[in-house]
Amino acid sequence: MNHLVVANWKMHMTGTQASAFLDDFLARVLPDDVDVAIAPPFTAIARVGDRLRGGAIALAAQDVFWEQSGAYTGEVSPPMLTDAGCTYVIVGHSERRQYFGETDETVNRKARAALANGLTPIVCVGESGAERDAGEALARVVAQTRASLDGLGRDGVARVVMAYEPLWAIGTGKNCDADDADATMCAMRASVDGLRDARILYGGSMKAENVAAYARKPNIDGGLVGGASLDPAGFAALILAARQGMR
Ligand code: PGA
Repeated sequence: MNHLVVANWKMHMTGTQASAFLDDFLARVLPDDVDVAIAPPFTAIARVGDRLRGGAIALAAQDVFWEQSGAYTGEVSPPMLTDAGCTYVIVGHSERRQYFGETDETVNRKARAALANGLTPIVCVGESGAERDAGEALARVVAQTRASLDGLGRDGVARVVMAYEPLWAIGTGKNCDADDADATMCAMRASVDGLRDARILYGGSMKAENVAAYARKPNIDGGLVGGASLDPAGFAALILAARQGMR
């Protein structure tokens, strides 16, 4: 399977800014053996989806609710995402867990709903700095992984993309050592049946200068990229560097 690089734009980019990004980014030559996805905020998703339709770059959402439709003000359903052109959806990002009350249980419901609707969930896990300092990082990540994937079955698990994002590395410029991340992701693979066949991404201060070190590790299949995905030239450089580093 190809490596996968996902742009997580978070709460950045108006529709107008997203269009300007794509004017530049889509004119660049990218390797055809690295899969790329862009996750815009909901307000830009239709516009970005229209531009990406039929092309090599996939559309992702940053969150989803698990019901198909109904009286859930403010929420967005899996069929709405597939209709907009999404093939991926991020679930359980640490910012959603931290600021919006996501739990392993809600992440699990969202992952199930995504799969049931033909979307590939990108399920995020990761330990805090305090958990790492206490020597609990691996146990925390394995527990989150198991709970988030509970009941998906071997086939469902193999279709998921996991993202290991240590919280202390997100947006801090302090990326996790690649060997260290690889060891954690190796343990994740062993923790749930089916994960040996799934892609696992690293996320946390990934950039063009450090992506190759991750891409060559046996358990790392790409990256979930925040800050370094907001500039079209920089994001294209990151994808090219990932290709060069690929094992
Ligand atoms: P960052 O964010 O690349 O800005 O550290 C990654 C993420 O939160 O997905």
